[in-house]
Order: sequence, then structure tokens, then C-alpha cells
Amino acid sequence: VIDADLEHHGDRDARSGLVDLAVNVRAGTPPKWLRDRIAAVDLAPYPDQADALAAVAQRHGRRREEVLLTAGAAEAFVLIARAVQATRVVVVHPQFTEPEVALRVAGHDVTRLVLAAPFVLDPALVPEDAELVVLGNPTNPTSVLHPAGVIGGLRRPGRLIVVDEAFADTVPEEAESLADHSDLHGLIIVRSLTKTWGLAGLRVGYILAEVAVIDALRAVQHAWPVSAPALVACVATCSAEACAQAQAWSIELGKTRERFVAELRGLPGLTLPARSRSSFVLIDVGRAGIREALHAHGFAVRRGETFPGLDEHWIRVAVRDSDTNTSFVKALSACLGNTTSVSSSTEEQQ
Ligand SMILES: Cc1ncc(COP(=O)(O)O)c(C=O)c1O
Repeated sequence: VIDADLEHHGDRDARSGLVDLAVNVRAGTPPKWLRDRIAAVDLAPYPDQADALAAVAQRHGRRREEVLLTAGAAEAFVLIARAVQATRVVVVHPQFTEPEVALRVAGHDVTRLVLAAPFVLDPALVPEDAELVVLGNPTNPTSVLHPAGVIGGLRRPGRLIVVDEAFADTVPEEAESLADHSDLHGLIIVRSLTKTWGLAGLRVGYILAEVAVIDALRAVQHAWPVSAPALVACVATCSAEACAQAQAWSIELGKTRERFVAELRGLPGLTLPARSRSSFVLIDVGRAGIREALHAHGFAVRRGETFPGLDEHWIRVAVRDSDTNTSFVKALSACLGNTTSVSSSTEEQQ
């Protein structure tokens, strides 16, 4: 165990019988058409990646040689940690902790760059001698979307920048994504099918990078890393229809999230310092114990304190449908000891 906190994830905060706002996988997924395609896969042969590589390459306007399929983003971080030689490794926090775990397990010394609220990335804070920089966009748990230009501007000769884009498809038009930029050297883009398509159990994602980097990562990957059902999911979710579905959902999500954020901002006793751009919201409730108090109201939320840079005052909450969001706001209000009713302000928002 490298650090128990770093290995804590939202699934451990979910509890049976409670409304799960701790895990950031889209509710009601995978869609039936996708489940049907996955279920129809012949499991007897060894998996053949050709169609999935072609589909991912086409979706992102890249060459097949610039794609590496992985067993989720989690495997991508392990491959990067094993393959990349770097003396100065910088991880920008607060962010998903598996990249740091993978790097430390592989023997890297990790320098943390811990951003303070509102979690805006100031390029001047990145050490000039950093050879590997790891960040998330949009970032879990802050929900902050960094401008693509700021990330691109971090590039230096001899430096690799890992951008965890596991949540990129929660943002309309995948704004600020660098996945399609094969012209920008030094970027390693990590993508996942887990969140938007509800495929956490399938383990499927991919890396986009220049050919030499992909070759180095493939060299440390084992044979047949991605199962045949996962490959079919890759092909299916790269289709124009699937991308249009994801885009429609991201627009709907944005509207629902803005209403949710407005309701939350109406509550005394909490702050939302960052501008939320993904499928979750990070809240500073100003005191410890709110997560446990919410259990009594039927809600499970993700604790903040296991993310470097946050403490027990922070909770991360998934954006669900408007009714669930409003019920949560009422429960949170009660836990914060607010006496004013939230329902009237809520009705005004809708
Ligand atoms: C930001 C981020 N990246 C990557 C992952 C892992 O994705 P995958 O299921 O593809 O391994 C998670 C899971 O919580 C995440 O929050």
C-alpha cells in the first residue's frame, strides 16, 4: 500500500440503500443498444484490435499508430509510469489519485503541485525542470476545465504532459480537449469509456500520443490487454450516432448542472469556489461530518479529504436528474442546520 488515502475511490463511499452521488458514472447506463452489442460478442477467439484501433483513430482524426487501447484509464497510468523515464515528475492536485499511485509504485519520486481554490492552473507554478507533468481535464474532483491553450503552453522540449481526459465527453463539443491534436508533440491523452457510457465494469479506455510514445507504452503492455467485449464497445461508442448521443447528453447535463449549482449557491454555509464544468460538483461545506449526516437523509457523497489539497470540509457530488439534485439540496440544507426552506428558491429556478 503506497498511501491508503490515494487508493480510496468514490465506490467505497457509496452505500447500498443510499442514493449514490459518490460515483461519477452516468446514471441509467449503459444504454440498451450498447449492452446488446456487448452481449452479442463471441468470447471464444482471442481479441482482435483492428476494428477498434481504426474506430478510435477515425473518431479523433489520428493515425492508428497513435492509439493504444487499454483496460481503462487506470491501466494507461500504469503503462505511462512504467515506460516513461523522467527525473522530475509533477502531478497537479487535487486530481484523481491513481496516476500518482502508479508513478510511485513504479519508483518515481513525485512532486505535487497543489492548486488552491478556485483551482486555476497557473503555468508559472509548474517547475521548469519537470520532465513529466500529469493533470486532469476536466479535473476530478474540482470539475475545473483548464483551457487547452494553457496545457499546450506547458510543453517543452524533453517534457511529456499526461492529460487525463476521462471526463472530456461530459463537456459539450469536448471543449478544451487536446485528443484530436496530433500536431502537438509531447502530449499523452488518456481517455475512458467508463463515465459517459457506464462501462466501469468492462475496463476500457485508450491513449493518444505520438507514435514513438505509443510504441514505448505498448512495449510494457501485456498480450491481449483489452477484451473482445471492450473492443466492441470501443467501435460502438466511436460511431457518429454514439458521439451525437454523448454530445446531446453533455448539453443536457450542463443545463441540469447549472440549475443544481444555482440551488446550492442559494444555501447559507457552503461555498462552491470553482466553476463546475463536468458531471460533478465540488462543495466546501465549511465543517467535517456532513458526509455522515447525509447518510441519515439517504445520500452517499464522495469524501474530499483523500484528495491532496482538500480536507474533511469538502465533498464531491455527482449531478443527477433535477428531482434528485433538488432532494439533495434540501437534505444538505437540513444537515447544515439551515432553517430557511430551500423549496421556494428551487421552484423559482425551474
Ligand atoms: C479522472 C479519472 N480518470 C480516470 C479514472 C479511471 O477510469 P477507468 O475506469 O477508465 O480506469 C477515473 C475513475 O474514477 C477518474 O475519475
